[in-house]
Amino acid sequence: MPFTLFSKRSFLTLPISRRSFARLAASVAVIGTPTAPFAEQTAPALRVDDRRFPEGFLWGSATASYQVEGAVTEDGRGFSIWDTFSHRPGKTYNGDTGDVADDSYHRYKEDVAVMRAIGLKACRFSVAWPRIFPQGTGAPNQKGIDYYQRLVDELLRNGIQPFCTLYHWDLPQALEDKGGWQSRDTAEHFSHYAGFVTSKLSDRVKNFMTMNEIRSFTELGYGSGIHAPGLQLAAGQLAQVKHHAVLGHGLAVQAIRAVAPGVRVGLADNVEACTPAIEAPSYIAAAQLAMREENASYLTVMMEGRYTDLYLKRLGKDAPRFTAAELKAIGSPLDFVGLNIYTATYIHPSSNEAGYERIPNPNSFPHFMSPWLTVGPEALYWSPRLVQQLWNVKEMYITENGADSDDKPNHEGQVLDTDRIMYLRNYLGHLQRAVAEGIPVRGYFCWSLLDNYEWADGYEKRFGITYVDFKTQKRTLKLSGEFYKEVIARNAVV
Ligand code: NOJ
Repeated sequence: MPFTLFSKRSFLTLPISRRSFARLAASVAVIGTPTAPFAEQTAPALRVDDRRFPEGFLWGSATASYQVEGAVTEDGRGFSIWDTFSHRPGKTYNGDTGDVADDSYHRYKEDVAVMRAIGLKACRFSVAWPRIFPQGTGAPNQKGIDYYQRLVDELLRNGIQPFCTLYHWDLPQALEDKGGWQSRDTAEHFSHYAGFVTSKLSDRVKNFMTMNEIRSFTELGYGSGIHAPGLQLAAGQLAQVKHHAVLGHGLAVQAIRAVAPGVRVGLADNVEACTPAIEAPSYIAAAQLAMREENASYLTVMMEGRYTDLYLKRLGKDAPRFTAAELKAIGSPLDFVGLNIYTATYIHPSSNEAGYERIPNPNSFPHFMSPWLTVGPEALYWSPRLVQQLWNVKEMYITENGADSDDKPNHEGQVLDTDRIMYLRNYLGHLQRAVAEGIPVRGYFCWSLLDNYEWADGYEKRFGITYVDFKTQKRTLKLSGEFYKEVIARNAVV
């Protein structure tokens, strides 16, 4: 007969055999207070109630169109800058492209079944602009719209809430040919596209994000050139590109509201996750200053409708050109802020003009497969806290968080990615602290449901909690997927 360990303070019950009960009792007798009753001594090790998330916390996963869909020439899809870039020799690891990726365009039902098996409550996906407007503007492509309607219907049938990102970096090549984000027109075209997609999906999608990681697609695409379209612009031109991107976001917020006043609008921002190196008042104050300043051209201008004085001063003649009306649009109020958080940027106080300094990571700092992916779990506590303090944000989601592991199936085909579990457990622990303290984070989206096309790193870097064999397209849940399933089922860090 199995025993059930149970205490009033714990809702966790655990079947346990007589033999292990005896073993456990013996070990407890060594560490516990001899006089305390058994349940009182063992309960702390088994309790999860203090690591719980509130009821209704939204557990999800995230993917993006070019990274998973494939089918790049199907059903009238136009070319994007990533089609062009990835086919250019030497631009991506191994020359990998997203031509096939996870073939989710055809296998989306299978992917939704994986989500359901994990117990996901929400799915963040993105719409490929060139599937909707193959030339970026002009006549829409009905078959592209049909695909996203099918996908959303499948999610809803399975009780999974769709969260739709409108731009996850696959700009129509036709628009890049006219200047891409260097041209202000792209911001206008984007808002038109955003309004159009919303009009087609808002009967079934209630949460929209304008853009994903503006910092990444501007700085990597138009600054360092390691992402599409692969340009290396001068500082002033880059500042203008960023301005057009945030303007596109703001105009899109307005367009979405105009066509569907009932939907909720936000964005997915990879905020520079400024984190006090030490939890002490002067460090916390410095981290707050840093959070505002280090995000001046992204989240700060979107939250405040103005660029900070220091940002403009530092750029000097390279500062972006803008109008008051543009700033107003950029600052359009949002219903929620999505934060993509992978790493922490540690901050310490300073007597310099800014009042803080970033601490460079020592060479010995631990990281995952991607050297940039350093481990900083406290970021999942501090970023929501500082964002709320700075801008009184009422609702937040972690729209991405995850890690790339050296996933190799064992002889039985299992992927036992204990390092990814360690990462997720630690990050979620800090997120749980934030939520328990009343910081309004309403959900968490793990990056990613599937191994997929990791941009310039091709298929070499795997971020999935589901392993994908790219030769056969077979999906296998990793151990981290099992871990996440357990987190969701218990609604707690486990
Ligand atoms: C951020 C991006 O949004 C996503 O596309 C990318 O794959 C992950 N981070 C991992 O690098």
